[in-house]
Amino acid sequence: MTDLSPDERAVPGAPYADALHRNASGPWVRLGVPGHQDQPERHPALASLAGPELLAMDIPMFTEGVDLPLPDSAEPSPLEEAMRLAAEAWGARRTWFLTHGASQGNHVSCLALRNLGSTAVVQRSVHTSVIDGAILAGLRLEFVQPTVDPHLGIAHGVTADALEEQLTANPEAIAAYVVTPSYFGAVADVPALVSVAHAHGVPLVVDEAWGSHFGFHPELPETAVRLGADLVISSTHKLGGSLTQSAMLHLGDTEYADTLEPLIVRAMNTVATTSPSALLYASLDLARRDMQLNGLRGIGDSIADVERLRDVLNAHGRYADPDPSIHAAPDVIALDPLRFVVDTRSGGVPGYVARRLLEERNHIHIEMATDSCIVGLIGAGSRLDVDYVADALHALPESDLADHPPIHLPPTGERAMDLREAYFSATEIVPADAVAGRVSADSLAAYPPGVANVLPGEVITAAVVDFLRQTAASPYGWVRGSLDPQVTRFRVIAD
Ligand SMILES: Cc1ncc(COP(=O)(O)O)c(C=O)c1O
Repeated sequence: MTDLSPDERAVPGAPYADALHRNASGPWVRLGVPGHQDQPERHPALASLAGPELLAMDIPMFTEGVDLPLPDSAEPSPLEEAMRLAAEAWGARRTWFLTHGASQGNHVSCLALRNLGSTAVVQRSVHTSVIDGAILAGLRLEFVQPTVDPHLGIAHGVTADALEEQLTANPEAIAAYVVTPSYFGAVADVPALVSVAHAHGVPLVVDEAWGSHFGFHPELPETAVRLGADLVISSTHKLGGSLTQSAMLHLGDTEYADTLEPLIVRAMNTVATTSPSALLYASLDLARRDMQLNGLRGIGDSIADVERLRDVLNAHGRYADPDPSIHAAPDVIALDPLRFVVDTRSGGVPGYVARRLLEERNHIHIEMATDSCIVGLIGAGSRLDVDYVADALHALPESDLADHPPIHLPPTGERAMDLREAYFSATEIVPADAVAGRVSADSLAAYPPGVANVLPGEVITAAVVDFLRQTAASPYGWVRGSLDPQVTRFRVIAD
């Protein structure tokens, strides 16, 4: 670059790419997504995608012999074959590769379901992409509340009884939509949820974004597809180890498949890019193959690492074991063995402080933290340096512990308007102290625990405002969807 002309030197740099290179050169221990965790030795085929052939492999869609069959060939194209193999691996009737994350899977599912009717019963803590999908589709949502652990500040899943109650109260519903596993790895009883949904004559959609590795090793929970779910959204790039943004949508081989399949094909055409990245597709194909190969050994090593970390932490005794309390929630039947929750507060360190210190002192990147705990994970087939992480956790200095009130979610306000109507209405911004009683135009969720406190079309109550502002003012909390970090203003439907 030294022989640049003065004009060329005046061209601005590439700050994002530079930052990415800088970050990549750091000696990070990654305990969050993506699940390959920058371990090329554990994922050599995936690593080879970014070698010198990167540009040669970045091809346009509709390339014959890759995306399309060769002319005169009666064989399916390699892309069709790769998706068929994925369907076989997860136990689906059909699988679609996605290049816009599990978010795209949720958008597609909502659009497809809207053809069956206008109301769906949905877990209140669904990812924002389900709410956005409902807005796109004009789907009306009736909610089932997840269980919440008030002390750890985490939201779990829904029980079959809670789903039964909401489906009974909403006989016009055309689908039930749940999330499992949770962000904390808590697994709900999918067979029981399937039975309830099917008894009400509706398909069960499972957002299994965090469980794309399920079913690939005997010690992992079974994938929702094989447990009878009708439609399953899978964020393969999370623990499944494909490249970030790649994901899959699986159609279960159930009584609803014939109805849903053409609706999904149509919805895919509506929201999919016409230029999907071949590299993302290839990474999905490799993640599937690696998990099948690793299922025999590599995933066992990953599980054993996390188990040993738990054992070392429990034997040391500084941090209380949070797993029994998570297991005690009525919806939780299993925990993802590739995740670990450490109750750092019980050892004198708030979770958000532990996260920051681990990053600063040990270059350990943790997936997430609440006031009470940190959550880490490793991907299927990746390894964990147990002693390094355990020593770093034990060496954390104690900090001042502020009061830690248990989390009690305020009741949500009444629905004054439907989601889509609110989204497209004229809006205005009002200060927080004048907003009670107004109808929200935005979706706001306080983290922790990440359950939407107000959605477009719902009345904002004084209790909700207090809860959002208190969470935002705490050193660990934040409010997704807020106009500013302190939640001083709200976007509402104009008078
Ligand atoms: C439950 C759930 N569903 C969907 C998504 C969206 O996934 P993606 O980032 O792959 O679009 C997330 C993201 O974290 C999630 O937690």
